[in-house]
Amino acid sequence: MAKQEAPFRVGGIVEPPYFVGRNDDLRILAETLRTLSQNVLLLAPRRFGKSSLLWNLRRSLADIPDLLLPYVNCRDMASPEDLFRGLVHPLLQELAEKRKLSGLWEKFRLVFSSGVLGALRALEEIGGSIGEWGQVYLRFREAEVDEKALVRAAFSYPKRIAAEYRVRVVFLLDEFQEVAAFDNYVFAALKKELDNPGDVRFVFSGSSLGLLREVFLREDSPLFLMVSRYELGPLSAEEAVPFVQERLALAGYTVEKATAERIYELTGGIPFYLQKLGLVLVQKLWLSGKKSVGKREVDAAFEQMLTELDSEFEVRWLSEFSPLQRRILRVLAKGPAGPTALAQALGMKPQDISSSLARLRAEMVLRRTEAGYELTDVVFARWLSKD
Ligand SMILES: Nc1ncnc2c1ncn2[C@@H]1O[C@H](COP(=O)(O)OP(=O)(O)OP(=O)(O)O)[C@@H](O)[C@H]1O
Ligand SMILES: [Mg+2]
Repeated sequence: MAKQEAPFRVGGIVEPPYFVGRNDDLRILAETLRTLSQNVLLLAPRRFGKSSLLWNLRRSLADIPDLLLPYVNCRDMASPEDLFRGLVHPLLQELAEKRKLSGLWEKFRLVFSSGVLGALRALEEIGGSIGEWGQVYLRFREAEVDEKALVRAAFSYPKRIAAEYRVRVVFLLDEFQEVAAFDNYVFAALKKELDNPGDVRFVFSGSSLGLLREVFLREDSPLFLMVSRYELGPLSAEEAVPFVQERLALAGYTVEKATAERIYELTGGIPFYLQKLGLVLVQKLWLSGKKSVGKREVDAAFEQMLTELDSEFEVRWLSEFSPLQRRILRVLAKGPAGPTALAQALGMKPQDISSSLARLRAEMVLRRTEAGYELTDVVFARWLSKD
């Protein structure tokens, strides 16, 4: 008998059947990348599914033989050296796979570990622009060139490699806000490439507009207007409700549409919470032996999910916001409000809170709707308004 598949998956990149919907986003982005028409800045708050979207985008384009989509996670990058490695490795792997160059990465990686002579020999075997690319790193290792030269090489060689091997390259740079903390010369080097990109494009993805805007959106920033901005929203009810019903059915629970809609409402369609609530619900049902699922069970599972998220939200609350921002969030957690009503509720003037509001919006903590400002993370909002 086949092992029973987990009904939900929480955290990390997901693929179908755990990845649902996003068809419009996938279609639009796939078209943009396939035709190399633009560089893209993909923005969404945490846990909206950016990494999963990038990954599934890559899957959907995997059959195009001359299109390489190196996926680069910038999360743990601490230095320009990490950036170099981070770009080289997935690019060469993609190239080796699509151009059937077995052992390419295994040879190249010697520049990071082996003695200089062994590394040089391997690079000579590889030859061409890739061989030269590796030599830049060796010179850096021997302190013959500095970090700036290394970063310039990291960004400039892919174009040459693309031309030499007749491929097109789209780098998917996830968590790019980490690199945004680097020195400005990184962006100067990047700007140079974006100006004259050959067959190379970039997708930059991140969840802190505050950091990313420094790099991409400030008018005096070198990358301003060089990328097209794409915002990812929560899942729609049409995508999420059937998904929840199907996954619960798989676990042996029949769930009315109204109950699945309750799950959608409580989680705001934010993919991570949708899956987490589903999982908590299934565990609770299993423990209690209940077979029927209604609003009461869903609400109890939601309470438990809030408890499980308690310490994380506590940390976020205490570490990420100023005292004034906290006061603003407490008011808005109870319901949306326009700037005037909000200021009034705080006993302040609208101009006293405008910069805090702008900042919270830039960080995608708040969004502006017709009803006024509201928290983008509805689960965090419910947690806040609880005590
Ligand atoms: N399209 C989707 N369908 C169903 N669930 C999804 C989808 N996308 C993401 N998820 C759920 O959300 C979780 C987080 O997704 P992912 O890591 O892609 O988000 P993220 O925006 O990159 O998060 P972070 O800001 O932490 O990097 C996944 O583990 C999965 O549970
Ligand atoms: Mg991510």
